[in-house]
Amino acid sequence: MDENINDIIMLLCKGMSNRKLYFSDHPKVTAYTTDIIVLLKDYFLSSGKNELFIGVVEGVFVFDGKRLFGPSVTGKLLIDFATILHGGGFGLKKDLTVKELKKFLDLTTLREVPVTNLAESRALMINYGIKNIRIGDPFSYTDEPTLQKSARPWEGKKAGPGLQSPTFLYQVLYDVVSKAHGAAALNQTLDIESAKSVSEFMLRYTRASFADVMQHVHYPDYDSYTVGHSVRVSSLAVYVAGKMNSPKKDLLALGTAGLLHDVGKSAIPDEILLKKSRLTKEEYTVVKKHPTAGVELLLAHDGVSSLDIAACWGHHIRYDGGGYPPQPQWASRHPVVALLQICDVFEALTAVRPYKSAMVPQQAYGVMLADKGAFHPGLLASFISLLGLYPPGTFVKLSDNRVGMVTDVGRQIDRPNLKIVKTEENEPLEDDDCYIVELHDPQCSELYVERLLLDQIF
Ligand SMILES: [Fe+2]
Ligand SMILES: [Fe+2]
Repeated sequence: MDENINDIIMLLCKGMSNRKLYFSDHPKVTAYTTDIIVLLKDYFLSSGKNELFIGVVEGVFVFDGKRLFGPSVTGKLLIDFATILHGGGFGLKKDLTVKELKKFLDLTTLREVPVTNLAESRALMINYGIKNIRIGDPFSYTDEPTLQKSARPWEGKKAGPGLQSPTFLYQVLYDVVSKAHGAAALNQTLDIESAKSVSEFMLRYTRASFADVMQHVHYPDYDSYTVGHSVRVSSLAVYVAGKMNSPKKDLLALGTAGLLHDVGKSAIPDEILLKKSRLTKEEYTVVKKHPTAGVELLLAHDGVSSLDIAACWGHHIRYDGGGYPPQPQWASRHPVVALLQICDVFEALTAVRPYKSAMVPQQAYGVMLADKGAFHPGLLASFISLLGLYPPGTFVKLSDNRVGMVTDVGRQIDRPNLKIVKTEENEPLEDDDCYIVELHDPQCSELYVERLLLDQIF
C-alpha cells in the first residue's frame, strides 16, 4: 500500500514539474494525470475508502500516521504547495477525474497564489473547479490524536512533541546519497537539488537528531557503508560547524558538500570498494582516483556549488599538502574543506568497515593527533573539544550500571548529557520511559562514565 502512495506522490510531483514546462493537454501531462487516477482507483478499490489523505506535517508527508521518508525529499514541490495554501495536506477523493487533476496542476503553476489563509485557498480551489481535492487543516498535536496513536514513539518523552523518528533523519539522508551514488554509477543525472533540500532538512533536525544519526555506526551491509559514511561525515561537519556558530547558509552549503564529497566512489569497481581485505597497491591507486572522478561528475551538473567541488577535490589533501590528488604547494584550502577532511578521517576510524572494526573516539583522536601535519591543528583541537570524549550517539555505561546514549557533549568534555536507556538492573527502558541525565548537574556529582560501549547494546 505504501508503495502505491509513494508512487502517487512522485507522479503528482512529476506532473507538477511537467505542467510547468508544457501546456495542460500535452501528452506528458495527460500521461502523468492518467497514471495517478489509475493508481487512485486501485487504492480506493483495495481500501474501500472514499478519500486518500496525504498529510504534510513540518515539511514531511504523513500517511496513516506514518512518515513517508523518500517521498518527503522527492516530493518537496507538493509539500511546498501545501504550505503555500496554508494547508496540512491534500485529500484526493474517489470522484477525482483527469480533467480536474489537470486543473489542480494548472493551479500549481501560478507564480503567486493569491491567498492569505486556508479559507481563501479552499475558495480558490472551488473557483478553479476543483471539487474532489480537499485541502486538509494544518496538523495540530491536540486535534488529531490518531496520528500520534498510530505513530510509533519517535523520541524519548523528554524530547517534546517533535515527530522526528530516531532514524528518520538518517533514512532521509541515506536515501538521497544512495540515489546520487546510484545515478552516478549508471551515468545518470545526479539530483543536486535533493541533496540541497535534504541539507536544509538536516539543519532543521540536527540539534535533536544528531545523536541518532551518529549511532548508525554499524552499517547493516557492506554496500551501505560508503553512503552511510557520507551521511555521517556531513552530519558531523554540520554539527561541529553549528557549535562554532557558523551562519545558517554556510551550514547548508557544508551539509550538501559533505553529502556529495565521495560521489566519485561510484566510479570505483565494487570488487575494490567492497573488498573485505586490505587493498593492494594497484587497487589503492584506483581508489585514489575518486576525488577527481567526483569533480568530473559534479562539473557536468548545474546547481553544484564551488564548495561541493572543493570538498570533493580536497577532502583527502592533508594540512601539510600531502595526500591526494597532488596539488601545488601554493594552493590554499578552504577551511570548510579542512573540516570535512577531519570529519572524513574521524568517521572512517570510528566506523565498522569491511576490513576493520571500529575505534573508540578517544583512540581515533589519539591517532589523528599523532599524525603530525595531517590536519589543521587549531581546527582539530576545536573538533575534539566540541565533540567530546563521548560524542553524541555513543552509548556509555555509568558507574551505577545504568546505560545511556549521549545526546549532547554537555559543559564538560567527560561529563556528557545522556538519555538513559537501561536501568541499574540492566533492564531496557521503553522509549517513553527513557529520561535525560546531565552529568554536569551537581546532583550527579557521584556519578561518572565508567566506559564506552562499542557493541550494539540491544
Ligand atoms: Fe573520499
Ligand atoms: Fe569520505
